Amino acid sequence: MEVAVLPDLETIGRIGASRIVQVLADNPAATIGLATGSSPLPVYENLVEQYRAGRVSFAAAQAYCLDEYVGLPNDHPESYSNVISRVFTSQVDFRPGAVHAPDGLAPDLVAAAAEYDAQIHAAGGADIQLLGIGVDGHIGFNEPGGSLSSRTHLGFLAEQTRRDNARFFGGDIDQVPTACLTQGLGTIMEAHALVLVATGENKAEAVRGMIEGPVSAYCPASILQFHNNVTVLLDEAAAAGLKMRHEYQATWDGFRRLEQENYV
Ligand code: GLP
Repeated sequence: MEVAVLPDLETIGRIGASRIVQVLADNPAATIGLATGSSPLPVYENLVEQYRAGRVSFAAAQAYCLDEYVGLPNDHPESYSNVISRVFTSQVDFRPGAVHAPDGLAPDLVAAAAEYDAQIHAAGGADIQLLGIGVDGHIGFNEPGGSLSSRTHLGFLAEQTRRDNARFFGGDIDQVPTACLTQGLGTIMEAHALVLVATGENKAEAVRGMIEGPVSAYCPASILQFHNNVTVLLDEAAAAGLKMRHEYQATWDGFRRLEQENYV
């Protein structure tokens, strides 16, 4: 993993967005994996700015969302389809029908999950996938204890996750859905490149488990240690538990120097 501890959200947004812009520069028809939650917001803000400045276009791209709540009506402001549209996709030039999300209202949720997984697989996996991380180490909605090679599936939110997400539902945990459709860890691992953003002290333990802990279903994000192209963008608070922080920083700085000198 490449791990960067960055001074502020603006820098996190700029570096995260630059990875996506580079993928689109190489292939304007790239498949981009999108994540909801507050962590990726600086990346979306930067991408919208770059789009407005004419530096990037999504007109030929496809996007696949990571997950969706089960049972929220189509017009619910917190359904992940609506959130991603509001914070990002409706502000840039994706073509109608180019942004895909699991159907949390499907009459057969298991079949809908399998179909969504097949679509992503047929697209060859995401060229680049953006991720956040939950306080308990989940990515997407892959909660601790699940299979490390799962595909897109019907899942259930951990109590901790429902408590954390209650802030989007007027602080009322009872309004937070209990079930979800989520890309599985195996699906996420098929993405060619992954960019994970984590900020704030409440993420420090999960971040440490992901980067330095044993690979274990206890911290689902730790599976990313087996992926060969992961960039983790952290603020100081989220990096606070890392034991080898200086080594990561030295590697990060070394690569940036070589990039500036055009060696990589
Ligand atoms: C939700 C989402 C995850 C997200 C996590 C953290 O549970 N399903 O994809 O990473 O929350 O969200 P935040 O970035 O708001 O802390």
